[in-house]
Parts: sequence; structure tokens; C-alpha cells
Amino acid sequence: MKLFDVYPLFDIEPVSATGSYIIDKKGDTYLDLYGGHAVISVGHSHPYYVEMLTRQLNRIGFYSNSVKIPLQEEMAEKLGRQSGYPDYELFLCNSGAEANENAIKLASFHNGRKQIVAFSGSFHGRTSAAVAATDDKSINAPVNHSPNFVFAPFNDENAAREMITDNTCAVIIEGIQGVGGVQIPDVSFLKLLRELCDKTGAILILDEVQSGYGRSGHFFAHQYSGVKPDMITVAKGMGNGFPVGGVLIQPGIKARHSMLGTTFGGNYLACAASIAVLDIIEKENLVANAAEMGKYLVENISPLEGIKEVRGLGLMVGIELEFPCADIRKELLFNHKIFTGSSSNKNTLRILPPLNIGKTELDMFVSAFCKTLEKTPVS
Ligand SMILES: Cc1ncc(COP(=O)(O)O)c(C=O)c1O
Repeated sequence: MKLFDVYPLFDIEPVSATGSYIIDKKGDTYLDLYGGHAVISVGHSHPYYVEMLTRQLNRIGFYSNSVKIPLQEEMAEKLGRQSGYPDYELFLCNSGAEANENAIKLASFHNGRKQIVAFSGSFHGRTSAAVAATDDKSINAPVNHSPNFVFAPFNDENAAREMITDNTCAVIIEGIQGVGGVQIPDVSFLKLLRELCDKTGAILILDEVQSGYGRSGHFFAHQYSGVKPDMITVAKGMGNGFPVGGVLIQPGIKARHSMLGTTFGGNYLACAASIAVLDIIEKENLVANAAEMGKYLVENISPLEGIKEVRGLGLMVGIELEFPCADIRKELLFNHKIFTGSSSNKNTLRILPPLNIGKTELDMFVSAFCKTLEKTPVS
């Protein structure tokens, strides 16, 4: 059987990885500044993470959610404490799309409404409600087109005032838009969304799938604004490569049995991985490291020739060039052995390294980037 052709593939076959580095079949070492779409938070194969997962697998790997799994409570307690949301409840699932799917569904169960307001440039995943809230027609199949999903211009306060009404079920926004090219919502915009949701009874959902778990230099990116959402969705960095996702739910939204459900969500291995990630983030002070290293990177990149704008918070950095970045990314990958990410804005590179990256690695990138910018012809 052949594989379904989903992604254009680089001719690179990783066989091992450690920290911020990946080693391929040929023995070449790559610096990983992308973490496979912002997934690697505490570094590849962190020894504590490997030990926690191995130990758990040797005990029990899986049983369904019909039995007590105390690891889920341990994870929820740690997540609540470290994120600053100790009073929220946690629904566990397996991916970012699934987290958003469940958040949208729960909002609709809660207020009985069906209109979802999302924003231009958004990306919320590829399952039916998540993709319908994603501003990319090319990945929405005809079955996903629904008049229930409307798009307001990002950061446009007047449009938000017009579009969020008593009919609105939920407003969904990323803590920082990732796929959209690292676009940060204004503090005043997030505050206005909170105000409008309070006024109309709509639910405010913050998608922190990419920007959460310390990446922004705060536990959640939206926390720089002081706004508290009704639900927060998480995945990616939560498991450092183990598939796990979740929805943090404010206590006023009540669960009833069978409203939400999952077979794999919250399994023993997913919990062990997520607890290991939270322990490492806390012990190694990675939220602060993300803030410090992100600042260092932005300061060193911003003065380079050919750069239009550097955006970001912490280690979620978008570098917008004056020209398309595809050749720059290829040059960085094949000649300098550095992984970077693209975005839906063809001029913007995304830098999403592990949160424990150091100055040595960032200096390697800045030097390679400098040489690449000098060499690559504008296309
Ligand atoms: C902000 C955001 N939300 C949701 C998703 C979907 O996550 P997943 O691929 O785990 O379903 C992504 C993936 O890139 C994302 O960036």
C-alpha cells in the first residue's frame, strides 16, 4: 500500500534527536528551530520525559475513561497551578483540532446558539467545526462550508462590535496567530472581545494550541492582556510529541455526562507525557527562558538587511522579509542544516524552537541567516 500524498516532503530522514538537534540517516545534524509545527517544547528526548513515559508504559499504557485514572487529576492540578487557572476544569483529548472542535461544541451546548465568530488569518485545525473556523478556503471541503461560521477582520474593533451580537454562540481567536504569520492580537482588541462576549452571552475561546505552554514567555499568550477567556484550548507543546490536547473550561460552564467524550483522551501515556512536560517547564524555568531567549533573538535579527518586520512574543517569532522566504528556508535547511517554518504569508518565516534553547543555538541561526540573506537572490 502506498501512503496518501498529504505533504511535500524534504529529502531528510531523522533517526534520532536530542535537545534542539536532529540527526538524520546520513549522520548529518540539524538545528531544530521549528519543533515539527511548534510541538517540541522541552526539547527532543529530554531524559526526564523519556524516563516518565518509559516508567508508565512498563506499568499500564491504556484503559478507557470508564475507570479512575489519578494521573489525569495530577495533570489537571499541575496545569491549573502553573497556568494560573486553578479553578478551571479540564477536558482531555488528542489534538489541537479536537480541542477546538470540543470547545465549539460545548459553547453551543451551553448557550444553545450556533453562530461562531472567527478572524481573518485564523487556523484552528482540520476537523469539521475547527476547519470551518479556519480562514483558508482551500482546506475547507464543501461539507465544511457553513453559514454558522463568520469571519471578522483581525484586530478590527469596529467590525467586532458589529459582528458579535446576541446571536453569537462563541468567538474563537488564537493567543497569537501562528499559521497566519505570527500576528498578535492587540490588548485592547482582546479586552473588547471579552466585553462583547460578556454583554451578549457569547463564549470567548482562546486557541492556545500553538502559542500556549510557555512559548510566548507567559504560560498562555493571551495572559499579557489580563483577559480571562471562558475556554482555552491546548495541544502541541503539551505533550512534546505525544498526541494530547485539552480544553480548560471556566467553572460556570457545566458538564453533563455524554456531552463530550473520547476513547484515547487522557490515557496513561498522554498524562505521563504531559506531567513530564509541566515538571520540566517548572524545574527548568522555561517560561522565563522563552521570554529571555525570544527577546535576544528579536534584538539580533531585527537590524539585518532585507527584513521588513520581526513579530512575536517569547519563542514564537515571525520574521517578515521584503520578499518570499521559500529560498531562504531551503538554503537554511540544506546548506546550514537549520529547520525553520513557513506560514500562510509567503514572506514570513516562523521560528518556534524548544523552550530550553540557549544563546549558542540562536547565535548559530543569526549567523547562518545573515549569510543566507546576503547570498539569496530576491525572487
Ligand atoms: C492555533 C492552532 N490551532 C489548532 C491547530 C490544530 O492542531 P492539530 O494539528 O493538533 O489538530 C493548530 C495546528 O497547527 C494551530 O496552530
